[in-house]
Amino acid sequence: MKVQVCIIGGGPSGLLLSQLLHLQGIDTVVLERQSRDYVLGRIRAGVLEHGFARLMREAQCGDRMDREGEIHNGFEIAHDGVLDRVDLFKHSGGNSVMVYGQTELTRDLYEARDRLGGKIVHNAEDVTLHDLTSDAPFVTWRSGDGIGRVDCDYVIGADGFHGVSRKSIPSAVLREYEKVYPFGWLGVLSRTKPVSGELIYARHERGFALCSMRSHVLSRYYIQVPLSDHVEDWSDDAFWAELKRRLPDEVAARLITGPSIEKSIAPLRSYVAEPMRYGRLFLAGDAAHIVPPTGAKGLNTAASDVYYLHQALVARYKTGDEAALDGYSDRALARVWKAQRFSWWMTTLLHRFPDHIAYDQKLQQTELAYLFSSETAQRLLAENYVGLPF
Ligand code: APR
Ligand code: PHB
Repeated sequence: MKVQVCIIGGGPSGLLLSQLLHLQGIDTVVLERQSRDYVLGRIRAGVLEHGFARLMREAQCGDRMDREGEIHNGFEIAHDGVLDRVDLFKHSGGNSVMVYGQTELTRDLYEARDRLGGKIVHNAEDVTLHDLTSDAPFVTWRSGDGIGRVDCDYVIGADGFHGVSRKSIPSAVLREYEKVYPFGWLGVLSRTKPVSGELIYARHERGFALCSMRSHVLSRYYIQVPLSDHVEDWSDDAFWAELKRRLPDEVAARLITGPSIEKSIAPLRSYVAEPMRYGRLFLAGDAAHIVPPTGAKGLNTAASDVYYLHQALVARYKTGDEAALDGYSDRALARVWKAQRFSWWMTTLLHRFPDHIAYDQKLQQTELAYLFSSETAQRLLAENYVGLPF
């Protein structure tokens, strides 16, 4: 097979890029290691920056998101016995976020690709990238008994943190920056009405908690747990009891509990790989960077990579100009690092760290008190939460 752009990974990054390029007449194929059912069975985050929602519309994938997603103009932070609201709309100059699950968004992207006859290969095993520093790279894979091969102009590594693309960059070229947090999030999805119309982030001496949602009948809750905990150790009852302990009494009293329909523990990690380009290979999304989920920036940072990359590829194919491709890594990383900073800041502000001394806890409390006493501080939070421009 011959295409212009071969995309490794059929997650949101790969699918959205494929769709945007297709709409500009650029031919792509997406190689995905898993089956479609498997990809659509993964439960992930659910807050879209307003710029990402715009990009989904531009990609002609925004109809269901606009019908079923919920616009949120603010969220709350529970701390020190109070519940303070961050007015995103007011403090970001009229912007907001869209609450719409990544699973649904991925389903919409697959449907859009199918509608336009997009080429997607599922169950592609042993994907291998070849001749990336030549002007004729190619990719091979195994499926069933056969071997597939695609020749292309460019390879896009959109295959997530555990993918093969980043590993194809020689270690002498790749610089890695990593911070591992000494805790994880235990998440529960339940078919219950969310406890509040807006998200509630809670800083508590027993640890962080988050009340989120996927719709008005589907709730997503999280609590901070030690990395040594196993999901089997947490019964539903134990989860709800611990969540309630970390919420203000009035919120805990109206929390509707129910059986979990998904329960998992995710470790928290910050990671960036530089550069995001090697020869004809360009990385996008989780393949190049990871954030802890506290600021809801993972998926949103993937979106800006895809935006910059699609612009650069369109420029290259429409005018032959490679300047934007050459500038892609620096441009994407500038925004990636800002999302890293914000995610680290929110994580540090709201979690209980095992090595924190009383002094550190006082600083956290002071930071929160300062935040809600200063419109300037709330503006900083709001402009980052709704998403920096791209
Ligand atoms: N070959 C082919 N496909 C692969 C390979 C491989 N060797 N390794 C991984 N993949 C696939 C995965 O199965 C997955 O479907 O690549 C896809 C990567 O998707 P994601 O992990 O969802 O990453 P990305 O598309 O960049 O999405 C952004 O932001 O909030 C975060 O983790 C969240 O998934 C979200 C991400
Ligand atoms: C989620 O709903 O899964 C979610 C929401 C906000 C976050 C992280 C996760 O900051």
